Amino acid sequence: MKLGGSDPLAGPCAVVTGASSGIGAATARRLARAGIRLFLVARRAERLSSLTAQIRAAGGAALSLPADLTLESERERVFRIVEQAGGADVLIHCAGLGWYGYYSEMPWPTALEMIQVNVAAAVHLTSLFLPRMSHRRRGHIVIVGSIAGGLPSQGVAIYSATKAFLDAFVTLKRRIDLMLALPLARYSSKRRRRRQVYTVSAI
Ligand SMILES: NC(=O)c1ccc[n+]([C@@H]2O[C@H](COP(=O)([O-])OP(=O)(O)OC[C@H]3O[C@@H](n4cnc5c(N)ncnc54)[C@H](OP(=O)(O)O)[C@@H]3O)[C@@H](O)[C@H]2O)c1
Repeated sequence: MKLGGSDPLAGPCAVVTGASSGIGAATARRLARAGIRLFLVARRAERLSSLTAQIRAAGGAALSLPADLTLESERERVFRIVEQAGGADVLIHCAGLGWYGYYSEMPWPTALEMIQVNVAAAVHLTSLFLPRMSHRRRGHIVIVGSIAGGLPSQGVAIYSATKAFLDAFVTLKRRIDLMLALPLARYSSKRRRRRQVYTVSAI
């Protein structure tokens, strides 16, 4: 499995989920500029291929891994491919979705999809990647949260609940850094500082 770049085995390696758009794509570009080799995960293969091509054209190393993270089997497939290529030093779980409206009008499939991507995929991918990082005593897992996790409000009940779950989950701390990134929000409370909260721009 070749990631491209001049020496595909050199330098740290990161897996970025949700890399087909928004914060995930921006994070991938930023990491590529820093010389980090990338596995880019999302469902839209053509977007991943386009970003991979741009990163490679700029001298970086990246590989598209199209996957639907609602599926346990797909998360395991991503992990296996990354492991076969030498493993990851960094996992950034940026994939996520929201929905606005009254919960009474929210279709259950949408709620379930949100729970699967925002919560189950974050926990499952952490379970898959954490043991090897712990063993090597080296690694970073970044899960993208939201200010909505601490400020639940009408219209985003399930979204807020998924992000509140992540807020609690990252209190888990091993010999790796497990951190919550809060886009567009710099929290100042002492409680959150203790949990090593970083904005995406600080990754
Ligand atoms: N933008 C904000 O203002 C903001 C604020 C607070 C928190 N956040 C959080 O930041 C993260 C990224 O948000 P964004 O604004 O960058 O959103 P976005 O542009 O919609 O990106 C979401 C990403 O998640 C991926 N994704 C969704 N469902 C997936 C699935 N089943 N399997 C694999 N990948 C899936 C999408 O890729 P595909 O559709 O190609 O699968 C896409 O790459 C989310 O966790 C969001 O909750 C964003």
